[in-house]
Amino acid sequence: MNSTETKGFGILTKDLATKIDTIINYYQSDSTKLVGILLDIQDVIPKQYIPREVASYVSERMNIPLSKIYDVISFYAALSDVPRADYVIQLCDSVVCKVTGNTDLRDAISSILGINEGEATADGKYWLEYTPCFGACDVSPAIRINGKVHGYLTSKDSVKAVLDQYQ
Ligand code: FES
Repeated sequence: MNSTETKGFGILTKDLATKIDTIINYYQSDSTKLVGILLDIQDVIPKQYIPREVASYVSERMNIPLSKIYDVISFYAALSDVPRADYVIQLCDSVVCKVTGNTDLRDAISSILGINEGEATADGKYWLEYTPCFGACDVSPAIRINGKVHGYLTSKDSVKAVLDQYQ
């Protein structure tokens, strides 16, 4: 199937298909760059996930088995096949952050937003999830929101001040 045959159906609009084509072309359809391709695609989809239609489209465009696409999605914590939210809050659960207080940080986020890990707020605005180290150990405890790191979050007030930036 070529790129025009699936355009205009469901979530895979013509506009989204064009964006996906642009991303795949940017990576020169290199299957060894599949993680980066899927991350970039996920970034342009509302609620930041890879819908089934999109996974199938990428599979066809890149001539990669659909099962391999899902292997990658399930292996990488930063990828999701279920809708998340406008703002994806990632909380590191690696050793350094455990030592520096990621549990308190998690409790503060849960208290402010009323969600636990793997949940979205009712308005679909925030999603909370654990992830492996994202390289912010020097400013731990830290969170990452839509890819942006916020560190030194040692009080509930500091967490709230960060969350208030994402309305
Ligand atoms: S250990 Fe948490 S960001 Fe590195």
